[in-house]
Amino acid sequence: MPRTRSLLDLEHLSRDDITFILKLARTMHTRAPRPRLKGKRIALLFYEASTRTRVSFEFAAKLLGTHTSIISATASSVEKGESLVDTGKTLQALGADCIVVRHPSSGAPYVLARNLRVPIINAGDGMHEHPSQGLLDAYTILRHKKSLKGLKVTMIGDIQHSRVARSNIHLLSKFGAQVVLCGPAELLPETALTLAPGLKIVRHIEEAVRKSDVVMMLRVQKERLAGLNLDSEKYHIQYQLTLDRLKLAKSDAIVMHPGPMVRGMEIQTEVADSPQAVIEEQVHNGVYVRMAVMSVCMGVA
Ligand code: NCD
Repeated sequence: MPRTRSLLDLEHLSRDDITFILKLARTMHTRAPRPRLKGKRIALLFYEASTRTRVSFEFAAKLLGTHTSIISATASSVEKGESLVDTGKTLQALGADCIVVRHPSSGAPYVLARNLRVPIINAGDGMHEHPSQGLLDAYTILRHKKSLKGLKVTMIGDIQHSRVARSNIHLLSKFGAQVVLCGPAELLPETALTLAPGLKIVRHIEEAVRKSDVVMMLRVQKERLAGLNLDSEKYHIQYQLTLDRLKLAKSDAIVMHPGPMVRGMEIQTEVADSPQAVIEEQVHNGVYVRMAVMSVCMGVA
Protein backbone atom coordinates (compact mmCIF):
# COMPACT_ATOMS: atom_id res chain seq x y z
CA MET A 1 0.00 0.00 0.00
CA PRO A 2 1.46 3.39 -0.89
CA ARG A 3 1.81 5.67 2.09
CA THR A 4 -0.83 8.38 2.23
CA ARG A 5 -0.48 11.54 4.27
CA SER A 6 -2.40 14.68 5.11
CA LEU A 7 -1.40 18.23 4.24
CA LEU A 8 -2.48 20.32 7.20
CA ASP A 9 -0.02 23.22 7.31
CA LEU A 10 3.30 24.51 6.02
CA GLU A 11 4.65 25.32 9.47
CA HIS A 12 5.52 21.65 10.00
CA LEU A 13 6.30 20.68 6.43
CA SER A 14 10.01 20.21 5.79
CA ARG A 15 11.99 22.07 3.15
CA ASP A 16 12.57 18.74 1.38
CA ASP A 17 8.85 17.98 1.22
CA ILE A 18 8.08 21.49 -0.06
CA THR A 19 10.79 21.23 -2.71
CA PHE A 20 9.47 17.83 -3.76
CA ILE A 21 5.91 19.16 -4.21
CA LEU A 22 7.11 22.22 -6.16
CA LYS A 23 9.19 20.03 -8.48
CA LEU A 24 6.31 17.66 -9.03
CA ALA A 25 4.06 20.66 -9.81
CA ARG A 26 6.54 21.68 -12.49
CA THR A 27 6.34 18.22 -14.03
CA MET A 28 2.53 18.44 -13.98
CA HIS A 29 2.77 21.85 -15.64
CA THR A 30 5.09 20.84 -18.45
CA ARG A 31 3.75 17.37 -19.34
CA ALA A 32 0.36 16.30 -20.60
CA PRO A 33 -1.85 15.27 -17.66
CA ARG A 34 -1.75 11.58 -16.74
CA PRO A 35 -4.63 10.01 -14.76
CA ARG A 36 -2.37 8.76 -11.98
CA LEU A 37 -5.27 8.75 -9.50
CA LYS A 38 -7.70 7.04 -11.86
CA GLY A 39 -10.82 5.78 -10.15
CA LYS A 40 -10.10 7.43 -6.78
CA ARG A 41 -12.79 9.48 -5.09
CA ILE A 42 -12.12 12.95 -3.74
CA ALA A 43 -14.59 14.77 -1.52
CA LEU A 44 -14.39 18.56 -1.46
CA LEU A 45 -15.93 19.64 1.83
CA PHE A 46 -16.41 23.39 1.79
CA TYR A 47 -17.88 25.10 4.84
CA GLU A 48 -16.87 28.54 3.56
CA ALA A 49 -17.23 30.51 0.33
CA SER A 50 -14.65 29.76 -2.33
CA THR A 51 -14.23 30.21 -6.06
CA ARG A 52 -10.64 29.67 -7.11
CA THR A 53 -9.54 27.20 -4.45
CA ARG A 54 -12.56 24.93 -4.90
CA VAL A 55 -12.56 24.95 -8.70
CA SER A 56 -8.80 24.57 -8.74
CA PHE A 57 -8.92 21.45 -6.52
CA GLU A 58 -11.80 20.10 -8.58
CA PHE A 59 -10.08 20.61 -11.95
CA ALA A 60 -6.81 19.26 -10.56
CA ALA A 61 -8.57 16.15 -9.22
CA LYS A 62 -10.32 15.59 -12.55
CA LEU A 63 -7.09 15.96 -14.53
CA LEU A 64 -5.70 13.17 -12.33
CA GLY A 65 -8.60 10.94 -13.31
CA THR A 66 -10.59 11.01 -10.07
CA HIS A 67 -14.29 11.29 -9.31
CA THR A 68 -15.07 14.37 -7.27
CA SER A 69 -17.97 15.40 -5.14
CA ILE A 70 -18.48 18.86 -3.70
CA ILE A 71 -20.21 19.17 -0.35
CA SER A 72 -21.05 22.67 0.80
CA ALA A 73 -22.29 23.48 4.29
CA THR A 74 -25.56 24.89 3.00
CA ALA A 75 -27.25 22.09 1.01
CA SER A 76 -25.94 19.13 3.01
CA SER A 77 -26.59 17.48 6.36
CA VAL A 78 -24.27 20.05 7.92
CA GLU A 79 -27.32 22.34 7.82
CA LYS A 80 -29.24 19.72 9.79
CA GLY A 81 -26.66 19.88 12.59
CA GLU A 82 -24.31 17.02 11.71
CA SER A 83 -20.88 17.41 13.32
CA LEU A 84 -17.72 17.84 11.29
CA VAL A 85 -16.36 14.44 12.34
CA ASP A 86 -19.63 12.67 11.56
CA THR A 87 -19.73 14.31 8.13
CA GLY A 88 -16.13 13.21 7.57
CA LYS A 89 -16.93 9.64 8.66
CA THR A 90 -19.92 9.61 6.31
CA LEU A 91 -17.74 10.63 3.37
CA GLN A 92 -15.18 8.00 4.32
CA ALA A 93 -17.87 5.33 4.54
CA LEU A 94 -19.10 6.39 1.10
CA GLY A 95 -15.67 5.52 -0.24
CA ALA A 96 -13.89 8.88 -0.33
CA ASP A 97 -10.14 8.29 -0.67
CA CYS A 98 -9.21 11.85 0.31
CA ILE A 99 -11.03 14.84 1.80
CA VAL A 100 -10.20 18.43 0.92
CA VAL A 101 -11.66 20.68 3.59
CA ARG A 102 -12.21 24.40 4.04
CA HIS A 103 -13.61 25.47 7.39
CA PRO A 104 -14.11 28.75 9.30
CA SER A 105 -12.54 27.29 12.47
CA SER A 106 -8.78 27.13 12.79
CA GLY A 107 -7.76 23.53 13.44
CA ALA A 108 -10.80 21.83 11.84
CA PRO A 109 -8.67 19.79 9.37
CA TYR A 110 -6.59 18.43 12.30
CA VAL A 111 -9.76 17.19 13.98
CA LEU A 112 -10.70 15.32 10.80
CA ALA A 113 -7.18 13.93 10.38
CA ARG A 114 -7.22 12.61 13.95
CA ASN A 115 -10.55 10.87 13.53
CA LEU A 116 -10.41 9.50 9.98
CA ARG A 117 -8.19 7.08 8.06
CA VAL A 118 -8.17 8.98 4.74
CA PRO A 119 -5.71 11.80 4.01
CA ILE A 120 -7.00 15.32 4.71
CA ILE A 121 -5.95 18.37 2.70
CA ASN A 122 -6.44 21.74 4.34
CA ALA A 123 -7.96 24.19 1.85
CA GLY A 124 -8.02 26.99 4.44
CA ASP A 125 -8.87 26.77 8.15
CA GLY A 126 -10.10 29.97 9.74
CA MET A 127 -7.27 32.39 10.37
CA HIS A 128 -4.70 29.63 10.61
CA GLU A 129 -3.23 28.26 7.35
CA HIS A 130 -3.90 27.75 3.66
CA PRO A 131 -1.00 25.47 2.71
CA SER A 132 -1.82 24.85 -0.97
CA GLN A 133 -2.02 28.63 -1.47
CA GLY A 134 1.40 29.09 0.14
CA LEU A 135 2.80 26.41 -2.16
CA LEU A 136 1.30 27.91 -5.30
CA ASP A 137 2.56 31.35 -4.31
CA ALA A 138 6.10 29.99 -3.90
CA TYR A 139 5.76 28.17 -7.23
CA THR A 140 4.67 31.40 -8.92
CA ILE A 141 7.51 33.42 -7.37
CA LEU A 142 9.99 30.81 -8.62
CA ARG A 143 8.68 31.19 -12.18
CA HIS A 144 9.96 34.80 -11.99
CA LYS A 145 12.90 34.70 -9.56
CA LYS A 146 15.83 32.30 -9.39
CA SER A 147 15.55 31.47 -5.72
CA LEU A 148 13.58 32.45 -2.63
CA LYS A 149 16.75 33.01 -0.61
CA GLY A 150 17.44 36.69 -0.01
CA LEU A 151 14.30 37.92 -1.79
CA LYS A 152 12.53 40.82 -0.16
CA VAL A 153 8.88 39.78 0.01
CA THR A 154 6.55 42.44 1.39
CA MET A 155 3.08 41.43 2.54
CA ILE A 156 0.64 44.28 2.98
CA GLY A 157 -2.77 44.36 4.60
CA ASP A 158 -4.72 42.21 6.99
CA ILE A 159 -1.98 39.87 8.17
CA GLN A 160 -3.70 39.09 11.47
CA HIS A 161 -6.76 37.42 9.93
CA SER A 162 -5.07 35.95 6.87
CA ARG A 163 -4.35 32.24 6.60
CA VAL A 164 -2.64 32.98 3.28
CA ALA A 165 -0.17 35.27 5.05
CA ARG A 166 0.55 32.66 7.71
CA SER A 167 1.29 29.88 5.22
CA ASN A 168 3.44 32.19 3.11
CA ILE A 169 5.36 33.43 6.14
CA HIS A 170 6.23 29.86 7.18
CA LEU A 171 7.30 28.74 3.73
CA LEU A 172 9.24 31.87 2.75
CA SER A 173 11.07 32.04 6.07
CA LYS A 174 12.14 28.39 5.78
CA PHE A 175 13.76 29.22 2.44
CA GLY A 176 15.59 32.34 3.61
CA ALA A 177 13.45 35.11 2.12
CA GLN A 178 13.36 38.44 3.96
CA VAL A 179 9.68 38.81 4.84
CA VAL A 180 8.46 42.32 5.60
CA LEU A 181 4.96 42.79 7.00
CA CYS A 182 3.04 46.04 6.63
CA GLY A 183 -0.35 47.11 7.94
CA PRO A 184 -2.08 49.03 10.74
CA ALA A 185 -1.74 47.72 14.32
CA GLU A 186 -5.36 46.41 14.35
CA LEU A 187 -4.57 44.14 11.40
CA LEU A 188 -0.93 43.51 12.20
CA PRO A 189 -0.12 43.29 15.91
CA GLU A 190 3.51 43.05 17.03
CA THR A 191 2.85 39.43 18.05
CA ALA A 192 3.00 38.53 14.33
CA LEU A 193 6.79 38.69 14.73
CA THR A 194 6.68 35.44 16.68
CA LEU A 195 5.39 33.46 13.67
CA ALA A 196 8.86 32.92 12.25
CA PRO A 197 12.40 34.11 12.90
CA GLY A 198 13.68 37.16 11.01
CA LEU A 199 10.33 38.82 10.25
CA LYS A 200 10.14 42.60 10.14
CA ILE A 201 7.21 44.95 10.62
CA VAL A 202 7.28 48.24 8.71
CA ARG A 203 4.20 50.41 9.25
CA HIS A 204 4.65 52.85 6.36
CA ILE A 205 3.79 51.38 3.01
CA GLU A 206 6.34 53.46 1.06
CA GLU A 207 9.17 52.26 3.25
CA ALA A 208 7.89 48.66 3.18
CA VAL A 209 7.59 48.54 -0.61
CA ARG A 210 10.99 50.14 -1.28
CA LYS A 211 13.32 47.72 -3.08
CA SER A 212 10.92 44.77 -2.75
CA ASP A 213 11.22 41.85 -5.15
CA VAL A 214 7.69 40.69 -4.45
CA VAL A 215 4.73 42.69 -3.16
CA MET A 216 1.90 40.54 -1.88
CA MET A 217 -1.40 42.28 -1.23
CA LEU A 218 -4.03 40.88 1.12
CA ARG A 219 -7.74 41.51 1.37
CA VAL A 220 -9.17 42.87 4.61
CA GLN A 221 -10.98 39.82 6.00
CA LYS A 222 -14.21 41.66 6.85
CA GLU A 223 -15.91 38.39 7.85
CA ARG A 224 -13.26 37.82 10.55
CA LEU A 225 -13.00 41.32 12.03
CA ALA A 226 -15.47 40.55 14.85
CA GLY A 227 -16.55 43.99 16.01
CA LEU A 228 -13.43 45.78 14.86
CA ASN A 229 -14.54 48.96 13.15
CA LEU A 230 -12.07 49.60 10.39
CA ASP A 231 -12.14 53.00 8.68
CA SER A 232 -12.07 51.88 5.02
CA GLU A 233 -11.40 55.40 3.76
CA LYS A 234 -8.34 55.78 5.97
CA TYR A 235 -7.21 52.24 5.20
CA HIS A 236 -7.15 52.67 1.48
CA ILE A 237 -5.35 56.00 1.70
CA GLN A 238 -2.67 54.49 3.92
CA TYR A 239 -2.30 50.96 2.59
CA GLN A 240 -3.54 50.71 -0.98
CA LEU A 241 -0.91 49.62 -3.47
CA THR A 242 -0.92 52.36 -6.12
CA LEU A 243 1.24 52.70 -9.23
CA ASP A 244 3.24 55.47 -7.53
CA ARG A 245 3.96 53.26 -4.55
CA LEU A 246 4.82 50.29 -6.74
CA LYS A 247 7.51 52.41 -8.45
CA LEU A 248 9.46 52.26 -5.18
CA ALA A 249 9.88 48.49 -5.51
CA LYS A 250 12.57 46.97 -7.73
CA SER A 251 11.83 47.56 -11.40
CA ASP A 252 11.33 43.81 -11.92
CA ALA A 253 9.16 43.34 -8.83
CA ILE A 254 6.04 41.22 -9.16
CA VAL A 255 2.69 41.97 -7.55
CA MET A 256 0.71 39.09 -6.08
CA HIS A 257 -2.75 38.71 -4.58
CA PRO A 258 -4.39 35.43 -3.52
CA GLY A 259 -7.81 36.75 -4.52
CA PRO A 260 -10.54 37.68 -4.17
CA MET A 261 -9.26 41.24 -4.62
CA VAL A 262 -11.24 44.30 -3.81
CA ARG A 263 -10.18 46.80 -6.46
CA GLY A 264 -9.99 50.31 -5.07
CA MET A 265 -9.51 49.03 -1.50
CA GLU A 266 -6.19 47.19 -1.03
CA ILE A 267 -5.15 47.45 -4.67
CA GLN A 268 -5.52 50.17 -7.28
CA THR A 269 -7.12 48.83 -10.43
CA GLU A 270 -4.19 50.01 -12.58
CA VAL A 271 -1.83 47.93 -10.42
CA ALA A 272 -4.05 44.85 -10.61
CA ASP A 273 -3.99 45.11 -14.41
CA SER A 274 -0.35 46.14 -14.76
CA PRO A 275 2.21 43.88 -16.44
CA GLN A 276 3.91 43.43 -13.06
CA ALA A 277 0.82 41.72 -11.61
CA VAL A 278 0.94 37.91 -11.67
CA ILE A 279 -2.46 37.43 -10.08
CA GLU A 280 -4.05 35.38 -12.85
CA GLU A 281 -0.89 33.35 -13.16
CA GLN A 282 -1.18 32.44 -9.46
CA VAL A 283 -4.67 31.10 -10.11
CA HIS A 284 -3.49 29.16 -13.16
CA ASN A 285 -0.51 27.63 -11.35
CA GLY A 286 -2.78 26.56 -8.51
CA VAL A 287 -4.13 23.70 -10.60
CA TYR A 288 -0.68 22.10 -11.11
CA VAL A 289 0.34 22.65 -7.52
CA ARG A 290 -2.87 21.01 -6.30
CA MET A 291 -2.34 18.09 -8.68
CA ALA A 292 1.05 17.63 -7.05
CA VAL A 293 -0.38 17.98 -3.54
CA MET A 294 -3.12 15.41 -4.15
CA SER A 295 -0.66 12.95 -5.70
CA VAL A 296 1.67 13.23 -2.72
CA CYS A 297 -1.14 12.96 -0.17
CA MET A 298 -2.57 9.90 -1.90
CA GLY A 299 0.80 8.20 -2.07
CA VAL A 300 1.23 8.08 -5.85
CA ALA A 301 3.93 10.70 -6.32
C1 NCD B 1 -8.11 33.47 0.39
C2 NCD B 1 -8.75 32.64 1.47
O1 NCD B 1 -9.85 32.15 1.34
O2 NCD B 1 -8.05 32.48 2.45
N1 NCD B 1 -8.48 33.19 -0.89
C3 NCD B 1 -7.99 32.09 -1.55
O3 NCD B 1 -8.19 30.98 -1.15
N2 NCD B 1 -7.24 32.30 -2.64
C4 NCD B 1 -7.97 34.90 0.71
C5 NCD B 1 -9.16 35.74 1.04
O4 NCD B 1 -10.29 35.27 1.22
O5 NCD B 1 -8.95 36.95 1.14
